[in-house]
Amino acid sequence: MTTVSVFGGTGFLGRRFVRRLAAEGATVRVAVRHPERARSALRAVGWNRVTVFSADVRDRASVAAAVAGADAVVNAVSAYVEKGGVTFESVHEQGAETVAREAATAGVARLVLISGIGADPESGSSYIRARGRGELVVRQAFPGATIVRPSAMFGPGDALFGTLADIARLLPVLPLIGGGRTRLQPIYVEDVAEAITRMLADPRAPGRTYELGGPRVYTLHELVRIALRLIGKRRLLVPVPFAVAKVQARLFELLPSPPLTTGQVDLLKADNVASGSLPGLRELNIQPKALEEVVPTYIGRSGAPEPD
Ligand SMILES: NC(=O)c1ccc[n+]([C@@H]2O[C@H](COP(=O)([O-])OP(=O)(O)OC[C@H]3O[C@@H](n4cnc5c(N)ncnc54)[C@H](OP(=O)(O)O)[C@@H]3O)[C@@H](O)[C@H]2O)c1
Repeated sequence: MTTVSVFGGTGFLGRRFVRRLAAEGATVRVAVRHPERARSALRAVGWNRVTVFSADVRDRASVAAAVAGADAVVNAVSAYVEKGGVTFESVHEQGAETVAREAATAGVARLVLISGIGADPESGSSYIRARGRGELVVRQAFPGATIVRPSAMFGPGDALFGTLADIARLLPVLPLIGGGRTRLQPIYVEDVAEAITRMLADPRAPGRTYELGGPRVYTLHELVRIALRLIGKRRLLVPVPFAVAKVQARLFELLPSPPLTTGQVDLLKADNVASGSLPGLRELNIQPKALEEVVPTYIGRSGAPEPD
């Protein structure tokens, strides 16, 4: 793949994927709403092969410009909160469809959509429903699209251990949403970035949906205990019903960087674990890293730098 357009190329996942592509010698276009942020986030990548496009998946013309002449397109855009004209439907359903349609019109060979385990077009949750419908409309507009559903991702700058550790440092009490019984299969963000890179080169990937999970399944309660152990704190763990957590998340969503969103609460209502019936890391020959190996390198250490 010589030219790859990456929507969301400055995000937690997107910037790692962009770095890999650039290192492999691909010409990369980063398509985001805030190109100036892209410049600082991607400084480490080697500028001669990375260009930054100002694009919004809700704006068809900007999408068309970003995909024109590309060999592959990756959509790693995320909207975790609805505000300022951004809705889950406009980004994860209509925006995903726009990217797929424009990629098909431009004759792009490969499209990868990053979705998530649990995406369900029939869900009562507006976030989960938009993710599920997004997958469906992308398949219609670009039948050879590859859909990627990761479980919760960890790595420096994550919203999982990073947020748990931040809350635990601030508060004497930690909420255990839904009693902490939800099962998750956290995956290292670099393993997901590597998986997408391999999919682009794999002739079996078009038309497939992959589910990507880490090497072990944990309950939310176990993950909270791991975070506490790493930062060396003891905290009272208080079970909080989903309905109460959702009210709290709604209030948090008024903050610029909410530590918890209503979409995350909705996702925690069901286990976030690979079904085993879809291809995953094994088919891509990737041995996933254990969180016990990675998380201590950035949680519990003061001032551990987050890579670009
Ligand atoms: N993080 C996880 O644990 C996790 C787990 C499962 C699945 N996922 C999925 O993985 C994907 C990437 O997530 P992430 O955590 O890396 O997201 P993120 O860090 O929030 O990054 C989102 C990226 O999307 C861009 N963006 C947002 N709205 C846009 C729009 N309307 N048009 C164009 N670009 C837009 C952002 O840049 P600008 O703001 O400059 O536009 C940014 O580059 C998402 O689909 C997410 O749902 C994430």
